[in-house]
Amino acid sequence: MNSLHGRTIVLGISGGIAAYKAVEVCRQLVDAGAHVAPIMTEDAHRFIGPVTVSALASEPVHTSLWDDASPIPHTRLGQNAEVIVVAPATARVIAAYAMGLSHDLLTATLIATRAPVVICPAMHTEMWEHPAVVSNIALLRSRGVIIVEPQSGRLAGGDLGTGRLADPASIVAAISSALSGSHRDLEGVRVLVTAGGTREPIDAVRVIANRSSGKQGYAIAEAAHMRGANVTIVSTVDRATLPGISIESVETAQQMMDAVNCYAPTSDVVIMTAAVADFRPVQVVTGKIKKHDGVPQITLEPTVDILGALGASKPSNQVLVGFAAETDNLLENAQGKLLRKNLDLIVANDVSADRVGFGHDTNEVTIVLASGESIHVPLADKHTIATAVLDSVSRVRTAHRPQ
Ligand code: CTP
Repeated sequence: MNSLHGRTIVLGISGGIAAYKAVEVCRQLVDAGAHVAPIMTEDAHRFIGPVTVSALASEPVHTSLWDDASPIPHTRLGQNAEVIVVAPATARVIAAYAMGLSHDLLTATLIATRAPVVICPAMHTEMWEHPAVVSNIALLRSRGVIIVEPQSGRLAGGDLGTGRLADPASIVAAISSALSGSHRDLEGVRVLVTAGGTREPIDAVRVIANRSSGKQGYAIAEAAHMRGANVTIVSTVDRATLPGISIESVETAQQMMDAVNCYAPTSDVVIMTAAVADFRPVQVVTGKIKKHDGVPQITLEPTVDILGALGASKPSNQVLVGFAAETDNLLENAQGKLLRKNLDLIVANDVSADRVGFGHDTNEVTIVLASGESIHVPLADKHTIATAVLDSVSRVRTAHRPQ
């Protein structure tokens, strides 16, 4: 299941403040069983120590074209790599790679490979938006280079804007999909994902909520975006995500239903990751309920079953995905929901297990397909789970396609 295990990855680190995050990328890759060969540019040495990277990677840091034990290190590294990732990639490295310059070990290795390349830019907003950088990125993309776009947030020197290196987990997910050969299998596919838990108001200040963090929904949305999909998230949570993903913010089950109804009819794939409240107060008190009025009696009524309604009116060829949070009879309950709601697949997790489900960074799931097949994905970070879910979505889409 883990597409990183036993794979050879060249991790290029260029000279930007985000170089420290490359250490975390390296650690996650090695933890997943990959062989990581690190290359640091001369400038990267100004930001992090090579000893740290050498200690965490699978071989010592390479920097020079000339003082390596091997006489032609760039061809050895470039030919042996199954994927090359550059994180962070500065404007200079991006420009050199786009122009085919090979003035140092990193750029020479990039030119000397036939492996997929993942570029993770990090720079100030003014640089990221400069026409030269914009056109270099477009050129690299047109050659099939995978770009993991920077996020918005705090930059070096305290500035705010787009240019911050993507999350290490998103970078690892992009490497993983590049290795699984599925990196653009959702090109142009319209994907709708719901994320987070709904909140049903009781009065002006109180709500009925649940523990969903939205992490799994966002991981799926980001993985779909990186595989080329046009992604919309209908979300109850405020989380940073990749540029290019549209977000519709909602709070209640009814608002989620209204937003989903706008997008679902024209979506190729709908993934209901959200934890939607099953019940809501019949009446919402306009002001705040005061303590001195005594313990309130709150009468609940069922909310609309969004996924059930989607299943009942599913356009042909749409892939509909549900989630099932269970504590008992996982497979049996999930299969029941799949049939009742007319789904193509359902992702079931045992939320009573350790480090699984709501709020955690990890999950362990069983993907049950309408064909009866089920795929168990052992405990992994939510980006790895997202890759497995999208691999199944992709398979169902291929099976739907007329021969
Ligand atoms: N869902 C929905 N609308 C609701 C409730 C749930 O669309 N009002 C979706 C969730 O997004 C999820 C799936 O349905 O994809 C979960 O199915 P459901 O049968 O509602 O699961 P539970 O709420 O866990 O049901 P139960 O309490 O019966 O286990």
